[in-house]
Amino acid sequence: MLAFVKTFGCQLNVADGEKIKSQLVNIGYELTDIPEIADLILFNTCAVRENAENRVFGHIGRAKYFKERNKNLIIGLCGCMANEPETIEKLKAHYSCVDIIFGTSAISKLPEMLADIKKNKYNEEYFELNTETDEGLGQVRESKYKASVPIMYGCNNFCTYCIVPYVRGRERSREVGKILEEITELVSKGYKEIMLLGQNVNSYAYDFPLLLKKINDIQGDFWVRFMSSHPKDCSKELIDTVAECGKICKHIHLPVQSGSNDVLKRMNRNYTREKYFEIIDYAKKKIPEVAFTSDIIVGFPNETEEDFLNTLEVIEKVRYNNIYNFIYSKRSGTKAADYLDSITHKEKTERMARLIALQQKISLENNGLLVGKTVKVLVEENNIGRTEGMIMVELDKTIEEGNIVEVKITGQKSIYLKGEVI
Ligand code: SAH
Ligand code: SF4
Ligand code: F3S
Repeated sequence: MLAFVKTFGCQLNVADGEKIKSQLVNIGYELTDIPEIADLILFNTCAVRENAENRVFGHIGRAKYFKERNKNLIIGLCGCMANEPETIEKLKAHYSCVDIIFGTSAISKLPEMLADIKKNKYNEEYFELNTETDEGLGQVRESKYKASVPIMYGCNNFCTYCIVPYVRGRERSREVGKILEEITELVSKGYKEIMLLGQNVNSYAYDFPLLLKKINDIQGDFWVRFMSSHPKDCSKELIDTVAECGKICKHIHLPVQSGSNDVLKRMNRNYTREKYFEIIDYAKKKIPEVAFTSDIIVGFPNETEEDFLNTLEVIEKVRYNNIYNFIYSKRSGTKAADYLDSITHKEKTERMARLIALQQKISLENNGLLVGKTVKVLVEENNIGRTEGMIMVELDKTIEEGNIVEVKITGQKSIYLKGEVI
């Protein structure tokens, strides 16, 4: 039996996808990358923006035709969209080819659900929000050297634009011991990059800086990253910890979303641009080589030209290595869905283009600052690797993937750097 699992959305959802694969392998499925030959197709979905959802419906529409060739094909939808009542209605009304729908709380019940389906029982009963952390499900990881490790689930922040708190439920954190045990095992298996995940790792319930210190003390040759950090909870202690711990990448993903205090307020982000700059300045002082990345929403309801210029100013001042930028997408059920919006789509896309142009210029300038320096690089394939700040480096020779090497940066070629392995 072959299973095809396609995951959309964030790293946390990718980790869920890996748990789903682990469940499937346990009950005898083999995994395939080719949906046409699969006996089970699962779409592990994301609800954060409308276009993410539309893509899923497109995929389901195509999968329907595979049923004509394989009568026993099971099609399932899980992940964040499965926790949206509107999606469920739409699937029931227009996508009868979907045999099984289950929310993010039901991954452990997948074997049972599949057994039911095979007895011709339609299954759609598992949408309750998680109230616990997943433990012991295992993760079938694609990479042999990069591993993501969720440390907390859910979100309590209710940013006014965001669906995540509604589909992922309230915050809950994994125990320190369980996390350390898992990372120790991953490192002993040869994993070199550990990515700690949570919607807001700074509200990890059992002292995030202390967790980082304990991870830093694990023996072995590896580095560790974390995301996302919410600026409202980003403490000096956290930055001091990043500065002190040799195994923590000198990279902070600190989504600002907007540079306008008015917009930040209407987003319910609970910080001001001044507070944000304070964190950035402190980090730059403590960690001179620190790299920042960010998420930014362009075209939040009624974002004025002045608001937008304030965002550009933040980008200029912080000098991010990279920004993940999104045009605001209205999510029904969220508070911002009721906000008036007088900005046209054209204005939004124009702003987006200006933002991208500015960021590209800054990325290139940041990369240039590394020329002549010696940095650590994690080799990802053949002669391509990435720095702690996630900049791509082309090496002068091929090194086995998954090694962390010291590299002298010798030059810059468009968005990537060139370097010699020492
Ligand atoms: N918890 C993380 C973000 C998770 S969602 C954090 O707070 O940083 C990832 C990103 O998607 C967000 O940072 C935001 O920039 C974007 N996003 C969320 N909801 C959105 C919406 N309705 N429209 C456009 N972008 C959105
Ligand atoms: Fe969404 Fe805000 Fe929670 Fe991030 S912190 S997941 S943006 S509600
Ligand atoms: Fe999307 Fe769910 Fe992540 S909505 S961004 S997959 S938590």
